[in-house]
Amino acid sequence: MKAIVLKGFGGVEVLHPAEIAVPEIGADEVLVQTRSISINPVDIKTRSGKALSQRLKDFDPIILGWDIAGIVSAVGSNVTEFSKGDEVFGMVNFPGHGKAYAEYVAAPASHLALKPKNIGFQQAAVSTLAALTAWEGLVDHLKIKKGDRLLVHAAAGGVGHFVVQLAKHLGAYVIGTASAKNKSFVLGLGADEFVDYTLGPLEQSIGSIDKVFDNMGGENIDASFKVMKPGASILSIPSGKNDGVEEKAAAAGFSGYKMLVSSNGQNQAKIGSLLEAGYIRPHISNRYSLEQMAEAHLQIETGRTVGKLAIDI
Ligand SMILES: NC(=O)c1ccc[n+]([C@@H]2O[C@H](COP(=O)([O-])OP(=O)(O)OC[C@H]3O[C@@H](n4cnc5c(N)ncnc54)[C@H](OP(=O)(O)O)[C@@H]3O)[C@@H](O)[C@H]2O)c1
Repeated sequence: MKAIVLKGFGGVEVLHPAEIAVPEIGADEVLVQTRSISINPVDIKTRSGKALSQRLKDFDPIILGWDIAGIVSAVGSNVTEFSKGDEVFGMVNFPGHGKAYAEYVAAPASHLALKPKNIGFQQAAVSTLAALTAWEGLVDHLKIKKGDRLLVHAAAGGVGHFVVQLAKHLGAYVIGTASAKNKSFVLGLGADEFVDYTLGPLEQSIGSIDKVFDNMGGENIDASFKVMKPGASILSIPSGKNDGVEEKAAAAGFSGYKMLVSSNGQNQAKIGSLLEAGYIRPHISNRYSLEQMAEAHLQIETGRTVGKLAIDI
């Protein structure tokens, strides 16, 4: 099968097309013939020798990627929930060795869900890591509820664009930040207010925030404190840029959280129901082939991607 393997860590030159054996599956796994996959900033960080690179460095070959949608071509002896021919999607083995940049992926059945019939493989593939992060962050950590005033930093990005839609579905009042060119995109997702972060301090335009979903980290954490209500909460997700958020928030009278999303077929099935009902709709700004993976990585590296990227297999 065709795959993209990593030869060392570094720039996009370490991504190499290769012909390798179709993976064998264990008793609890499903073999998925991928039709579309997606990528995230963690792919780029890992390729460059950060993020999950330490966990993956001793595998040979290393195959990046976690987000898949495709067709079940074989099931392990213990698998009862899927059959050959089922259309499935999910985030496979995160945070571990997902091996998604390939024509076939061996996935634990517990990491997958049935793909909604009314969406394509591309839409399903992009509604995995980023959508699961939005779900886990809003539901498990921020415990979002009707009427909460939620601030979303980087509302136009992969995670942010799901956070806006999901939070609106859960009844929150949503304020999204992005640069001016993404104003209509963010409002089109359902956000109640838009803030152009380039125009000056947040407190000049907003206040009384109950909850913050921070996709940027760094100085956004301190900036958020200035617009949060006493006792409000902030979840900051970019690893390496959210150090100390719990302690800093506590010192300022708030609750601070970090998280690392993990593969979860049950949550993936909930995302599937929301996609099927049309409550959330992924936005795909660019499509690539497997051979164009380096181009896709360079696009994510710009930090300017709108919504998600899909890789057609
Ligand atoms: N902990 C976890 O479990 C977890 C899970 C998923 C992702 N993450 C991390 O979360 C971060 C976001 O991921 P992502 O997939 O959403 O990234 P992404 O899709 O690459 O984000 C791109 C977006 O960021 C916006 N942006 C850039 N600078 C900004 C700023 N200063 N203020 C507001 N928006 C800004 C851009 O909008 P403009 O062009 O308009 O600026 C662009 O639309 C990454 O660091 C990722 O690794 C962590």
